[in-house]
Amino acid sequence: METIKKKITYGSSQKPNNRAPYAKRVIAISSGKGGVGKSTVAANIAVGLAQKGLRVGLLDADIYGPSIPRLFGVENEHLAWNDNNKMIPSENFGVKLMSVGLTTPQNDTPLVWRSSVAISALIQFLDDVAWGELDYMIIDMPPGTGDVQLTMAQEIPLFGAILVTTPQMLATDDVSRAIMMFKETHVPILGIIENMSYFIAPDTKVHYDIFGSGGAKRLCENYELPLLAQIPLTCKMRELSDEGKMAIIFGENEIKKSYQEVVKKIAER
Ligand SMILES: Nc1ncnc2c1ncn2[C@@H]1O[C@H](COP(=O)(O)OP(=O)(O)O)[C@@H](O)[C@H]1O
Ligand SMILES: [Mg+2]
Repeated sequence: METIKKKITYGSSQKPNNRAPYAKRVIAISSGKGGVGKSTVAANIAVGLAQKGLRVGLLDADIYGPSIPRLFGVENEHLAWNDNNKMIPSENFGVKLMSVGLTTPQNDTPLVWRSSVAISALIQFLDDVAWGELDYMIIDMPPGTGDVQLTMAQEIPLFGAILVTTPQMLATDDVSRAIMMFKETHVPILGIIENMSYFIAPDTKVHYDIFGSGGAKRLCENYELPLLAQIPLTCKMRELSDEGKMAIIFGENEIKKSYQEVVKKIAER
């Protein structure tokens, strides 16, 4: 009798749907891990592209931990609908924003949803938001390699993914898995951003490798990917996030320049 070899399939996005025909390029900012700076990176890239005069939308796909409203200082805004029954995105720094955080009555309202409900909400953000025509849609992904990542890869033809990591092995292990997921789903990886690369002491300006060093460089060598930037951990970066200000505009010169270079590389691709 012939034996049939079973194979695990991870789902395919070789022929994804196109739920975002209004966006010329869709870029996912992802990582295997939480707390590494995905949202911060997504926000700064979106603002950087908008500063180049491009039309940019930022979709917060982190349903259970939406950070985009606060990062953009619009956390007190609430969802409104236009006459065509479309949700009106919030806007700041020239970027149109949609987040589940804008749909809850209060900033601290938790969403206790099954993942199927979370996915429907995201699909609605693709289908029923008055985004207008966009040159770029940036998607701030939740951590991990689960439902949301797969759905996005299947529902929109992604132009590419940018992966964010810290130098720490615990983070790069998770990012390796994310790299493999994007490879399996045929999404091009545009490169890796190492965030919190080192800490700059505010008083002495001495650099400390809090999370180790070389993590992103090793990942880039292993998987033949470009290292797009190494962003240090600074007190000012944290303060700016809480105040709803962008590092690419208000940050230290060095960080501003790093982000501007990343944006330039993306826009030139
Ligand atoms: N380079 C940095 N320097 C200082 N704080 C940072 C830096 N990058 C991110 N943070 C802070 O770290 C926390 C996690 O960042 P966030 O972008 O929310 O990560 P993620 O989206 O991956 O969970 C936030 O409080 C953010 O303000
Ligand atoms: Mg986040």
